Amino acid sequence: MKEIVQFVDRYGTDCVKWDGLEEKYGDKDMLSMWVADMDFRCPECVHAAIRKYMECGAYGYDMLSGRFNKAFAKWEKEKHGYEVKQEWLRYATGVVQAFYWCIDSMTEKGDCVLVLPPVYYPFFNAIDETGRTLVESNLIWNGQEYKMDYSDVERKIVENNVKMLLFCSPHNPAGRVWRREELEKIADICEKYDVIIVSDEIHHDFVYEGFKHIPMGLIRKDKTVVLSSASKTFNLAGMTTAMAIIPDDNIRAKWDAFVETIHISEGNSFGYLAGEAAYLEGEEWFDEVKKIIYDNYIFLKDRLLEKLPKLQIAPLEGTYLMWADFGAYLKESEMTYFFEKKCKIALDYGEWFHGGAETWVRFNLATSREIIEKAAEIILGQLKDS
Ligand SMILES: Cc1ncc(COP(=O)(O)O)c(C=O)c1O
Repeated sequence: MKEIVQFVDRYGTDCVKWDGLEEKYGDKDMLSMWVADMDFRCPECVHAAIRKYMECGAYGYDMLSGRFNKAFAKWEKEKHGYEVKQEWLRYATGVVQAFYWCIDSMTEKGDCVLVLPPVYYPFFNAIDETGRTLVESNLIWNGQEYKMDYSDVERKIVENNVKMLLFCSPHNPAGRVWRREELEKIADICEKYDVIIVSDEIHHDFVYEGFKHIPMGLIRKDKTVVLSSASKTFNLAGMTTAMAIIPDDNIRAKWDAFVETIHISEGNSFGYLAGEAAYLEGEEWFDEVKKIIYDNYIFLKDRLLEKLPKLQIAPLEGTYLMWADFGAYLKESEMTYFFEKKCKIALDYGEWFHGGAETWVRFNLATSREIIEKAAEIILGQLKDS
């Protein structure tokens, strides 16, 4: 019987993860475990939908956006208990672009925007490139997991007159799935000081047993934007289709006014078709993907800890990214040389994420077991010899 999830060798397909190694790390002959997309073929329903569209052979203007949005809303309701009204939904070319547009449309130049590092590094670029001021309140690693520092958050908001919180839920790279109480606390602080929350929930479907993702929109409806996409869940990042959920009429009007100035209100047919098919029929494939990723996590974590007991690994509650601290074995200044030159493994370095995470690295687990095993053995071999 054919496996539901198939690993694909993506070399030679112009993919950033493998073919972009030379540009990013100056060496194309590396094991790639960096950028967050998956080495898995998308679910068959996606190919079937695209094949059907291709049979017609004409790619003219289409009317597909309504169907895609309905399929997304159905998925949100069934999977996350979040009832998303159609009128709240707005298209964006990606979640990254969507948070740029939120910052641009809902704050003023020079305004302070708060982030909680270590965090997805394009957050920093977005704040900088839109002419806003970056304010950071680091998460605290207590040796077991990352926690938010609420009093620091409140102090930073007050001191800097912060206008927006750029939040990540589940958290990349820490792998945290925020609990209801944590979300309520951070939302309360934002409410008290009239801070808009932009919650990047692109990883929200990757939540493992024992944990539940709670959309920020269920905690706070006004002054809150939830950003989502099928791109992580179904490996569709190249389809450039994401959505902003904006229940608040006032800030949605600001988004709309901004988007009018850049003239991008609709996406491409392939993105809509792929996303619609995936949301309606891709669940079985996705469940299988999640199992593979979680097994990869357990394997990699256990294998590394068996030989390197002083390694610190953040528990994987959500996302497909394993976050590990090699500080007991490597100095900050040795990190890139060790992983790039000695191991020839491409990873995301903790330094990129700020928050004092210089000896941490982020592993992308959405790949074959063979690659995961190879990475573990290379690292163990190199650390033994060093
Ligand atoms: C937290 C987070 N947001 C956004 C993105 C990228 O989103 P998009 O490709 O839709 O711009 C990623 C990809 O790694 C991510 O981890």
